[in-house]
Amino acid sequence: AEVYLNGRFMPLGDAKIPVLDRGFLFGDGVYEVIPAYHRKPLRLHAHLDRLERSLAGIRLANPLSRADWEGVILHLLRSHEAANQAIYLQITRGAPAVRDHRFPQRTQPTVFAMTKTLAPRDPRISEQGVAAVLREDTRWQRCDIKSISLVAAVLLRQEAADAEAEEALLVREGWVVEGSTSNLFVVRDGILSTPPTGPELLSGITRELVMELAACESLPLIEQPVSVEDCRAADELWICSSTRELLPVTRLDGVAVGQGLVGPLWHRLNAAYQACKA
Ligand code: PDD
Repeated sequence: AEVYLNGRFMPLGDAKIPVLDRGFLFGDGVYEVIPAYHRKPLRLHAHLDRLERSLAGIRLANPLSRADWEGVILHLLRSHEAANQAIYLQITRGAPAVRDHRFPQRTQPTVFAMTKTLAPRDPRISEQGVAAVLREDTRWQRCDIKSISLVAAVLLRQEAADAEAEEALLVREGWVVEGSTSNLFVVRDGILSTPPTGPELLSGITRELVMELAACESLPLIEQPVSVEDCRAADELWICSSTRELLPVTRLDGVAVGQGLVGPLWHRLNAAYQACKA
């Protein structure tokens, strides 16, 4: 498998960046993760559109054209042994000669891309679901930007892992906005809800896809704020992301969600999601 760095393809071990890179010093950059099935990216344009918005959010020009991004991605997908892969793209504000918070006068961004095998989902998940915990959201005010400054998300995801949970669901002023690395859906009395997009959460591409699939299945879905109470009283709770697809959450803070079983609506939407990958 090859990786891409600043215009060239090379083995991962040959990809090196200067220690003054602003990604390393400041977390001054953005990223994308795109799933690919049978070497075909899922929703590529939606991901590249979001990358554009993330770059604009940190005032960095897109270093590559749409056609160039597509070329890089297809090259990487072909160079990798696995058919199902997760593509990772990262752009930082480059490596100027000195450490200074202010933007460098002339920016030569660092552009990096790689892919890794997208592991098949553990079959136990569709039988038992996963556990989640609620945590206070300690991240910043621009969670709509897919920033590489991820230390808050790292700490929250580790807190979930320490509690033997798959995800931490994040609470802001009583509202559950998303997971540390995923978006959130709640089913109550047959109605699906997901928090509306805004600066407090990442506009997930998988979230968008799940919303479209719900519409195809004629399931009522409302974008509305989701409270802690909505989660605790939910019949079904789901998380979703590019790498984890749609996962049923059957335990929240150690308590059963609904009956504590994987719900019927999850089975329906998961089947629809699996069909999109084929
Ligand atoms: N994370 N919210 C956050 C905070 C995320 O980090 C992610 C994805 C999502 C889901 O977005 P999407 O459906 O577009 O993947 C929501 C990626 C997978 C990651 O950081 O690896």
